[in-house]
Amino acid sequence: MMKTKMIFAWKDRENAVREAAEELRRGGLVVFPTETVYGLGANAFDAEAVRHIFEAKGRPQDNPLIVHIADMQQLADAAGEVGDTARILMDTFWPGPLSVIVKKSARIPDAVSAGLETVAVRMPENELAREIIARAELPVAAPSANTSGRPSPTLARHAFEDLCGKVPLIIDGGPCRVGVESTVVDATGEVPVILRPGDITPEMIRKAVGDVKIHHGIMGEAAPEEVCASPGMKYKHYAPRAAVTVFTGDKKEVAKQIDFRYHIDSMQGKKAAVLCLDECAAFYPQLRVFALGAGAAEAEAALFRTLREIDEQGFDTAYFHAQEEKMGLAVMNRIIRAAGHRVVAAGEEKE
Ligand code: TXA
Ligand code: MG
Repeated sequence: MMKTKMIFAWKDRENAVREAAEELRRGGLVVFPTETVYGLGANAFDAEAVRHIFEAKGRPQDNPLIVHIADMQQLADAAGEVGDTARILMDTFWPGPLSVIVKKSARIPDAVSAGLETVAVRMPENELAREIIARAELPVAAPSANTSGRPSPTLARHAFEDLCGKVPLIIDGGPCRVGVESTVVDATGEVPVILRPGDITPEMIRKAVGDVKIHHGIMGEAAPEEVCASPGMKYKHYAPRAAVTVFTGDKKEVAKQIDFRYHIDSMQGKKAAVLCLDECAAFYPQLRVFALGAGAAEAEAALFRTLREIDEQGFDTAYFHAQEEKMGLAVMNRIIRAAGHRVVAAGEEKE
């Protein structure tokens, strides 16, 4: 077991940046904050260092990583040719929670791109993240800093729970502002294609570029021949230990269905929780309610933390009262995966 050091950036920012940069330069792994979720970073030029990321997370080798940069000078380290569409997206949304897929530079090893000719690049909005990357003078390959299959970490404590003993350094920069991972966009063609929804919405991208497509694997289960578009689609993600079921439809119908399921589950001695927006909390006087806030931004920020709390508190079952319009695509995409695609359309007769 490796000794894991934790540095609190608000106490000693200068030291946090220096030690993180040194660790990256010597080929080590560093957990660092971003505005989306905590990342598990390594030198993106160093195939050996990158292999340690996969080991620490227990992540399948064929799922490529996102390369993080601090400024536009570093773009050429990671990317080859950058087309007009990609350029507009970068100009509009960076620094920020958008990963742009472009042709990769020859310096990025296959360990990062999983053998693809492309690479996902992102310039995070989080200033501590950019300071660390700039000080290291390296592009940083980083997936989310969770054990594969667990909800992504939005607090340093979550990363510590999953990776203690497996990484040398964790930088605690406080809670992540956004709370769900970046929007991933394939910008190798003229029309950008969203492969993973996030805080940067399809509407925002359409406004910037004029057009956008949403990969249909985002909500449904992607067919095998489609997963090569984004290998991340084929894995069950964000899974808490509790069995999650998503309920959609008219909110009164959903409340009736959840109440019915609650009675069945409690007869079997199961401990059940409900996740919903604040406005629906009053429907569930008998249940332990985890209110996710008023709308999409608050629900994004609360989602992964809440999924971890549900496990910590030993719930067997979690009902998710979905309000797609208000919660947004990013939250719906994450919860449907956490539920292993168990979705009940309330009012309809079949699961
Ligand atoms: O917000 C985020 O993006 C966080 C923070 C740390 O920046 N990182 C993150 O990384 O979520 P990760 O590895 O958990 O997710 C990367 C996603 C995967 O779904 C992967 O399949 C996709 O991006 N991806 C990466 N490179 C790709 C490529 N060249 N082509 C298609 N998909 C790619
Ligand atoms: Mg991840």
